[in-house]
Amino acid sequence: MGIMSRDIGVDLGTSNVRIFVKGRGIVLNEPSVVAINKITGEVLAVGHSAKEMLGRTPDSIVAVRPLKDGVIADFDSTRMMLETFISKVIPKSLFLKPRLVISIPYGITDVEERAVEGVAYKAGAKEVYLIEEVMAASFGSRIKVEQAEGSMIVDIGGGTSEMAVLSLGGIVVSSSLRLAGEKFDKDIVEYVRNKFNCIIAETDAEEVKKQIGSAYATMTEEKFTVKGRNLNTGLPEDITLTTKDIQMAIMESIEKIVKTIKLTLEQTPPELSADIMDHGIIITGGSALIKNLDRYISGELGLPVHIAENPLDCVIKGIGATLDSIQVLKKAIKTKKK
Ligand SMILES: Nc1ncnc2c1ncn2[C@@H]1O[C@H](COP(=O)(O)OP(=O)(O)OP(=O)(O)O)[C@@H](O)[C@H]1O
Ligand SMILES: [Mg+2]
Repeated sequence: MGIMSRDIGVDLGTSNVRIFVKGRGIVLNEPSVVAINKITGEVLAVGHSAKEMLGRTPDSIVAVRPLKDGVIADFDSTRMMLETFISKVIPKSLFLKPRLVISIPYGITDVEERAVEGVAYKAGAKEVYLIEEVMAASFGSRIKVEQAEGSMIVDIGGGTSEMAVLSLGGIVVSSSLRLAGEKFDKDIVEYVRNKFNCIIAETDAEEVKKQIGSAYATMTEEKFTVKGRNLNTGLPEDITLTTKDIQMAIMESIEKIVKTIKLTLEQTPPELSADIMDHGIIITGGSALIKNLDRYISGELGLPVHIAENPLDCVIKGIGATLDSIQVLKKAIKTKKK
């Protein structure tokens, strides 16, 4: 086998899994969903095709998101999902005990951490390195963590919002909140139930959020129609939502994230917070794409906020950088608290 495929990086996210193969780059990017036949235990689908099955499976099939709030909620389905993804990008015959670098949220418990390691070994890795997601995100967004200057990164994904102040190649202060994009979807479902007495699917709520969502009310109201089920009649109904609806639905969750950023800044040594005041915060993760989120956070905190380039790919790109350089990898895993 070629030396190329020996090192693999995995961003095992709550919403999406991404795989990086050394020498090839990002080779896979799919939703963290797996569909399993309950009777035989075999994997029927993973990723995009499994996500389409969510909420539509017959009794004999389960379609699940095996991760919740950034951590493994179900070991076996996570293992099956990861194995299937890896076998999609690397033929089984070539998959000879690779080195696997995998990201974890900051501040997870030892048990949660061992579950990630366990899944990686079971999926066939010879060596497993864990790297904190914020650290990877900082490499991937090209923040210069080597410098003595402080910088702050906020990664808002599907399950967790993580933030860290970095200086001299390490994490100085960090916080993690188990609330992110998937909570926004639930907020929208809840809002629609209260306002229209209708139930909509979480996947539809996510679509509305992506299409017309905004962190604050804008001059130009956009509209988007989804199918719901009326709770009184039980019949399907068209529901037209506006940007304002989405903003109201997700406001409370967004405020929680902003509050955690504020608390993190308050714990930051003054020399470093002065740097952050000057240079601003960088936001990464899929939820950084919510319209006006940067402007909203900037307004609340009174400092500049920048959205990273391709915010969905920062973590996996950063993991890729650690595969290219053993020095970078050593630095990254060094910050992992034991
Ligand atoms: N254009 C968009 N507007 C708003 N939200 C978006 C957009 N694109 C993606 N998202 C949201 O981003 C989230 C996924 O982001 P990401 O892939 O960074 O999460 P993850 O890495 O899987 O999760 P985590 O890091 O929390 O475990 C989803 O909740 C998705 O709905
Ligand atoms: Mg992530």
